[in-house]
Amino acid sequence: MSTTQLFKNPRAAHGFQGRTCSIAAVGSYVPERILTNAELEKMVDTTDEWITTRTGIRERRIAAEGEFTSDMAAKAARRAMDKAGITPDQIDLIIVATITPDMLFPATACLVQHKLGASRAAAFDIEAACSGFIYALEIGQQFIMSRAYNTVLVIGAERLSSIVNWKDRNTCVLFGDGAGAAILQHRPDAHGLLTACMGADGEKAMLLCMPGGGSRIPASTDSVEAGLHHLQMDGKETFKNAVTAMLTAAQEALRRCEIDISRIKLMIPHQANRRIIDAVGDRLGVKPEQVFVNVDKYGNTSAASVAIALDEAVTQGRLQRGDLALLVVFGAGLTWAAAVIEW
Ligand SMILES: CC(C)(COP(=O)(O)OP(=O)(O)OC[C@H]1O[C@@H](n2cnc3c(N)ncnc32)[C@H](O)[C@@H]1OP(=O)(O)O)[C@@H](O)C(=O)NCCC(=O)NCCS
Repeated sequence: MSTTQLFKNPRAAHGFQGRTCSIAAVGSYVPERILTNAELEKMVDTTDEWITTRTGIRERRIAAEGEFTSDMAAKAARRAMDKAGITPDQIDLIIVATITPDMLFPATACLVQHKLGASRAAAFDIEAACSGFIYALEIGQQFIMSRAYNTVLVIGAERLSSIVNWKDRNTCVLFGDGAGAAILQHRPDAHGLLTACMGADGEKAMLLCMPGGGSRIPASTDSVEAGLHHLQMDGKETFKNAVTAMLTAAQEALRRCEIDISRIKLMIPHQANRRIIDAVGDRLGVKPEQVFVNVDKYGNTSAASVAIALDEAVTQGRLQRGDLALLVVFGAGLTWAAAVIEW
């Protein structure tokens, strides 16, 4: 039976005049170098047992020397382009979501544009931390829906190993590097990105931040000595806010599409901590087979996280065309988002 009769397209509720926007293909890339919990035991006062039971993370990938966010982004993009069968000249727009751009400016998206040879494409970055990929999808789909562009390349890419404090056991065990990319196009007879509920709470901005390097605290000898160019986090508060925000956003996305969670083939949550994923999944009432988890292999790759997970889910055949997927993310800002997608 076609799924199209079994949910509401929320965008159609507003006298929908535009085109639907689908993900034509996804691709991902992670660096070769694997950093295990056993290796971290030699770097900071931690144990494999602590990391595994508190986070579910067993290993993460670390970019090679000279391998930057734009390199990983371009590799993920090429894989998505190959699967979609598109050439660089077909890309109208490149959006890169990242908190670890190659440089503060120019935008990493411009560097990716050059690496891909996508010289027709406009290019810009967005910064919504771990929520960046869904934020970027929702931005990208506006251009497809409005017919402004036919092909948008959305990428989540991070080299978090470059901002992590490798002496801080509270944070260094959690993060990893990688990239995921999606090609957005209109596909006739497909609903594609049905809805995306996005939110933010700037009052809690300092729970998870990198204080140095911006206009507030420009790089100086003092700022470097004070460690202000490293990621800082209040783990406990971040955890609590993540569960509440992801749950609320997911419920709102399902409500807008008038579907029950049982209709979702696969929930693909932000991969930060297995306990966050389980807490959100339990409260939503999903069955274990409805949840995609790869945090054990990659840790938290921020904006790349759900993009890599979506690519792996499709590659493993856990998501087929016509299935409904629920993507849920949370990150610094604070920011959060949930999207329902007819894959
Ligand atoms: C970071 C996190 C794993 C910590 O787990 P927790 O169960 O909350 O642990 P606590 O913060 O209570 O710390 C417990 C103890 O473990 C210690 N600890 C922290 N990291 C440790 C590590 N890597 N190894 C061993 N001990 C560690 C702490 O110092 C603390 O010790 P203390 O009680 O003597 O002070 C968890 O809070 C978390 O995942 N938070 C959200 C992180 C996240 O997802 N961020 C990104 C959002 S996009």
